Amino acid sequence: MDALDERLDRQGSLRFDEYVDLVLYGADGFYSRGGGAGRSGGDFLTSPEVGPLFGAVVARHLDAEWVRLGRPEEFVVVEAAAGRGALALAVLAAEPACAAALRYVLVERSPVLRARQGEHLSLAEPFVVLGAPREVDDGDADPLPVPDGPFVVSLPEVPAEPVTGVVIANELLDNLPFRILERTQDGWDELRVARRGSTLVELLVPADEAAAAHADALAPSAPPGSRIPLQERAVSWLRAAFEVVDRGSVVLFDYAVSATAELAVRPWTEWVRTYAEHGRGGPPLDRAGDQDVTTEVAVDQLAAVRRPDVDVDQADWLRSRGIDSLVDEGRRTWEERAGVGDLAALRARSRVAESEALTDPSGLGAFRVLEWHLP
Ligand SMILES: C[S@@+](CC[C@H](N)C(=O)[O-])C[C@H]1O[C@@H](n2cnc3c(N)ncnc32)[C@H](O)[C@@H]1O
Repeated sequence: MDALDERLDRQGSLRFDEYVDLVLYGADGFYSRGGGAGRSGGDFLTSPEVGPLFGAVVARHLDAEWVRLGRPEEFVVVEAAAGRGALALAVLAAEPACAAALRYVLVERSPVLRARQGEHLSLAEPFVVLGAPREVDDGDADPLPVPDGPFVVSLPEVPAEPVTGVVIANELLDNLPFRILERTQDGWDELRVARRGSTLVELLVPADEAAAAHADALAPSAPPGSRIPLQERAVSWLRAAFEVVDRGSVVLFDYAVSATAELAVRPWTEWVRTYAEHGRGGPPLDRAGDQDVTTEVAVDQLAAVRRPDVDVDQADWLRSRGIDSLVDEGRRTWEERAGVGDLAALRARSRVAESEALTDPSGLGAFRVLEWHLP
């Protein structure tokens, strides 16, 4: 990786979060080159990529949230880590009741993935969703009516102005660069990445005072030699998400544990998960730029910003939002249309398999769903 080599030549070593930032999002990083989720040709399978059922359940949730907020005329859904837009596509295909009010903002950091969003979604210009100048000041003219949606726009970053609606993200936080600290006999070291010849190697240096104090608070009983992540970027992202939502909620789906201390007693190469070509990848310093590098999310670090109002596993969340009735509906459609064998019949039949994958207790079903209701 040229960008990594160049930085290491300049700086000698990088903090682990800087390393992750470069190998995922640098000029020739994993996501910058278009790596990511997908059924065929993807590197891993996420819930939206299993099929449209996940999006259909999310659409039900969005409707419930729209109703809770009093059916606002403009209901903004900001989807962070939108990838190539699979979740948005499924939400729209489910034809939610809030469709006319819906302004769906896809936020994706990778320009290559962003460019693919227009392949299946009709994208409007951002001003249509964010502060459209609807009122023309020409004396006594009536304000123009709010145009019917749904509208979809694409941005590289979360919009700056507060909205009424929902910020939602599937598997974003695990992908935000994180630091790694290692417990020593009398304190904490920080993991840095350096190069010996053409091989990347670990370098441990004493952690700065603030990081060591933070690590002590998170995992006071961590045994010497154990490692923990400091997920400061995830925390900053969450704070920014709260700023975006004036009224509404933040909903996050991810692999997560309740407490950082749980990670300290596991091998770090287990909770630092790497992915490539539809499987787990190699050690985190191998194949730089050719594999995804992620961490299990520690909910206690997020809860320090604000405790989530909902914290349940994905299987329970999907059931409470009606996945079983959607599967039953699919079964009935299949029975009626099996003879026809058209796309609608096949889609209906696939709901059973999709539901099994999404609620699998040893897979996606064990993911955590965190909700914060604002204000
Ligand atoms: C594991 S993928 C998940 C994609 C999609 N949500 C899904 O479930 O299929 C993580 C995505 O987050 C994107 N990403 C990382 N940091 C981001 C940020 N700060 N804002 C928006 N997207 C980001 C990556 O480029 C990548 O596409």
